[in-house]
Amino acid sequence: MNGFLRITGAASLSPRHNSACRHDIRILSGIRPDTIVSTGSNSTDMADLAHINGNFIPLESAVVSVNDRGYTFADGIYEVIATRNGQPFLLPEHFRRLERSAEGIGLRLPANYADWPKIIAGGIERAGFAETMVYIQLTRGVMPRRHVAIEDLEPQLVITFRPRPTFTAAQLAAGQRVITVEEIRWRRCWIKSTALLPNVMMKQEAARAGCDEAIFVDRDGEVHEGTSSNIFFAAGGTLVTPPLGDYLLPGISRRFILDRAAATGLPVDVRRCNRDELLAADEVFLSSTTMDAMPVVEIDRHRVGDGKPGPLTRRVRELFPE
Ligand code: PDD
Repeated sequence: MNGFLRITGAASLSPRHNSACRHDIRILSGIRPDTIVSTGSNSTDMADLAHINGNFIPLESAVVSVNDRGYTFADGIYEVIATRNGQPFLLPEHFRRLERSAEGIGLRLPANYADWPKIIAGGIERAGFAETMVYIQLTRGVMPRRHVAIEDLEPQLVITFRPRPTFTAAQLAAGQRVITVEEIRWRRCWIKSTALLPNVMMKQEAARAGCDEAIFVDRDGEVHEGTSSNIFFAAGGTLVTPPLGDYLLPGISRRFILDRAAATGLPVDVRRCNRDELLAADEVFLSSTTMDAMPVVEIDRHRVGDGKPGPLTRRVRELFPE
């Protein structure tokens, strides 16, 4: 335990602080006590990496307290950022959304917030992947389980670094199959909260149906978004996507597509749309940081267009830099 305390820089905390108090997180979060980590050279080369409470450690060794409100209440927010050519893509946009999410749940950003771009750059370099998926999670903090949070609770930051997933040409040519599901989420879907139970449940329902994604549709048939993606369709050469609102995460990829498509002369229409239009569309695709623009070839067992990824989807995919 002593070595562990040294590693986390928490040597000033005496073992008697090991009772259920807030200091526990400094001890319990960050690293398993049995893990020896060099904080110097790039000892974590090509392994998934975590930055937790100021330390870079192998992801498999990272631990958080069971008293973390992210664990007990899903009281936290997150961001997912991909690198392109080794650089975080659209980082300011992701930070802006993170700030809105923090404000949305009344979470004060930590004092070191301005350092995060540096931490992220350091993590990307240390991890050493060709391209990296950066995951930021910020929870309200650690305290004994009670709904009302302590006023000055210190938010807990975890940033992880993993290889960015890639899709093969065959996967892109095959496209994805989706189901539509009832909108059962809360009215603040614009907050990128770690409270994702409805999303998880519906994505699992899609998987059980042999599909890749579930699209939330409300009782009036209005289409919102996927469990982890936004949705677009093409009708008569125009790209259509639902507007921002209570039931939509303002996707960074969605915004990028809208901006770039308009700039390249591709007609776009941001408007409310319903399930029937989706089924009748020439093309449908999903957008997200993980997938860019992913063709959808089947919705609720109905074939989309001719059942193959279409030219507009391809054009949109090409808007993204390599
Ligand atoms: N998900 N809608 C939801 C509900 C999402 O979870 C996501 C992204 C998106 C697309 O947003 P963006 O283009 O900014 O990635 C839309 C991320 C990738 C995730 O949870 O892993």
